[in-house]
Amino acid sequence: MSSYHQAIKASPRNTPWIDLRSDTVTTPGPDMRQVMANAEVGDDVYDDDPTVNLLQDRLAEMLGKEAGLLMASGTMSNLSAMLSHCGRGDEIITAKQYHVFSDEAGGAAIVGGIMFETLETSADGALEPDAIRGAIKPDDIHCPVSRLLCLENTHHGKAIALDRMQAAADAGRAAGMQVHLDGARFFNAVKALNISPADLAGVADTVSICLSKGLGTPAGSVLVGPQEMINKAKRIRKFLGGGMRQVGVLAAAGLYALDHHIERLTDDHNRAAELAAYLSAMDGLAIETATNMIFISSQSSQPIDAHHLAKVLADHGVLITPGDASTRLVMHLEVDDHAMETIKAAFQDWYESQSGN
Ligand SMILES: Cc1ncc(COP(=O)(O)O)c(C=O)c1O
Repeated sequence: MSSYHQAIKASPRNTPWIDLRSDTVTTPGPDMRQVMANAEVGDDVYDDDPTVNLLQDRLAEMLGKEAGLLMASGTMSNLSAMLSHCGRGDEIITAKQYHVFSDEAGGAAIVGGIMFETLETSADGALEPDAIRGAIKPDDIHCPVSRLLCLENTHHGKAIALDRMQAAADAGRAAGMQVHLDGARFFNAVKALNISPADLAGVADTVSICLSKGLGTPAGSVLVGPQEMINKAKRIRKFLGGGMRQVGVLAAAGLYALDHHIERLTDDHNRAAELAAYLSAMDGLAIETATNMIFISSQSSQPIDAHHLAKVLADHGVLITPGDASTRLVMHLEVDDHAMETIKAAFQDWYESQSGN
């Protein structure tokens, strides 16, 4: 936690924080803990954990892929995929703003000697086929081999339309590239687009899905794809230190989440839309909503004092990370109707504290 949040959370409270910093902040509820406690387990490095095997098989089947592999985190899942697809000196084409490039500590370059070519996303978060075609290197000894296209959905909460995903993937495939989809919030995209998991997964060879974001488990991600890729990823997971043992306790939480936490993602999207509508009535605020996320900025050139906003919200028990140009609020399974009332009241208080309102 940042020192900023340490300072804010140090102040005593009688009620739990309403934490809007991310959907990763949720803690497992009593029912999820119960299935974790009762999980049948074994040594997963020997493929002996029946609950892990069940989760991997179930997600692979849902997404129309041959096999799945449980990982410690989304970053490990993406890195294992990138290393499975690419050799040293190969190139990944992706967006400058996508997580694999911007927020995963350069792992593919450090561990795999893989280069990145980055493009700008369009307003909907997609990569343009023409831009991809323009970035693919010719078969020339001076150039790296453009091996893998990395896509992301949702991106900054935006659910990118299936035809846009397909067009990007087709542009890469036409040049012999493979496609990986960072689906950290895969099911948010599926629900928002009202398509099947297999439809969205069908655009890519491999897909990573996080269990610990909107799905609400304590940790974990599953990489799905062709059996051959998953076999490679298993060796890579091992050398990355991600071969875990009786990890059925985590897989049980994942299975619980697949049963209970996918359909309800729509509640998060609806609450984001409801709060956005409420905030839109406040003069001077520019509000953007994307699935379970809301981005607040100023309509004028004078930015919002986001630290002041965070302070007023914290006085009401609402936690946010103040942004520079834009501040993000994230809805998740711990934001219920009662929390929504508190959040609205906190914003109203802040709005009235602004001069002239
Ligand atoms: C789009 C996206 N991909 C990957 C990740 C990485 O997941 P993890 O934090 O589990 O490593 C995140 C985390 O926030 C993410 O937002």
